[in-house]
Amino acid sequence: MTARIIGIGAYAPETIVTNEDLSKIVETSDEWIRSRTGIRERRISTQEGTSDLAAKAARKALANAGVRPEELDIIILGTSSPDCNYPSDACTVQAAIGAVNAVAFDISAACAGFIFALNIVQGFFAAGIYKTALIIGAETLSKVTDWSDRGTCVLFGDGAGAAVLQAAETGVIDMTMGSDGTKGSALACTSRTLGNFLTGTKPELGFMTMDGREVFSFAVRKIPESVEYLLEKTGTSREEIKYYVLHQANERIVEAAARRLKEPMSKFPMTIGKYGNTSTASIPLLLDDMVRQDMLKPGDKILLSGFGAGMTWGAVLMEWTLGA
Ligand code: COA
Repeated sequence: MTARIIGIGAYAPETIVTNEDLSKIVETSDEWIRSRTGIRERRISTQEGTSDLAAKAARKALANAGVRPEELDIIILGTSSPDCNYPSDACTVQAAIGAVNAVAFDISAACAGFIFALNIVQGFFAAGIYKTALIIGAETLSKVTDWSDRGTCVLFGDGAGAAVLQAAETGVIDMTMGSDGTKGSALACTSRTLGNFLTGTKPELGFMTMDGREVFSFAVRKIPESVEYLLEKTGTSREEIKYYVLHQANERIVEAAARRLKEPMSKFPMTIGKYGNTSTASIPLLLDDMVRQDMLKPGDKILLSGFGAGMTWGAVLMEWTLGA
């Protein structure tokens, strides 16, 4: 048994923040942001938490799949900006949507979170443990962004995307995942610094920090590497791949990956311009966009690939099944 996607849903907060808006709070410009990243605007949450965005995306995915919440066996939510340390956002979503029969938990794999969630579910399906799953990528990175740091605040946005998965004969063909903890400091966010009665200090909240060049070179190496690994392992030719659905971190990263893979940019759809980098939400947001534009047909082969803090990376080769 493998995992097939039977429903997709996404939600992004209504408030749009343009590059022009950001140029009023930090020393930057629309020209700099567009030319370095491809980002024009992003959505920023003013009222809703990660679990609120996640629940909205989840309801849409369930409606799209025609699956009732109580039919779900498992909910996995990838996030690096949860509302609380606990309860998990997955449990909050479970309560919000009434998925009374599901086990629910969060995973922390940063921007590779959606891919990791998909692969975990695939493992449960292959082992015959569960049959129906909901996976969600959801972020409100705006709350961990240092809005005085122009090197990071122009890059990220808030949003959520979800997929309903069913155990079936066709769907995920193969996958790969990896981590390199030695590069953890390249992209980091401490949730709280140590503080207790022994040290006499109070814990402080941390903000995101990033070595942009290090992350950039890591991404342009790891994406083609994991894509080529999967193509070779499964004996799939590049011609068979309809689209490469890459994590939306930076237009230049996607272009560099396309060059290294010797594939045309027309096979690399993008939403980075309107959402910015929404971390683990970016792949399902992009898939949702592609479904709404009728770009995918049952039987199409697509390759998903994500990378992020950890460092983490992962890729999935799958046959598209939605609409069958
Ligand atoms: N506006 C204007 N200038 C900016 C700026 C901004 N928002 N951010 C940085 N700069 C400046 C830098 O301070 C630097 O100035 P200096 O030369 O005077 O020191 C200059 O622009 C060039 O900085 P550099 O870091 O070399 O730019 P870059 O071409 O590497 O682009 C990133 C920076 C962050 C866009 C790029 O490195 C990147 O996208 N990295 C990957 C980040 C990422 O994807 N993270 C998430 C992974 S999931």
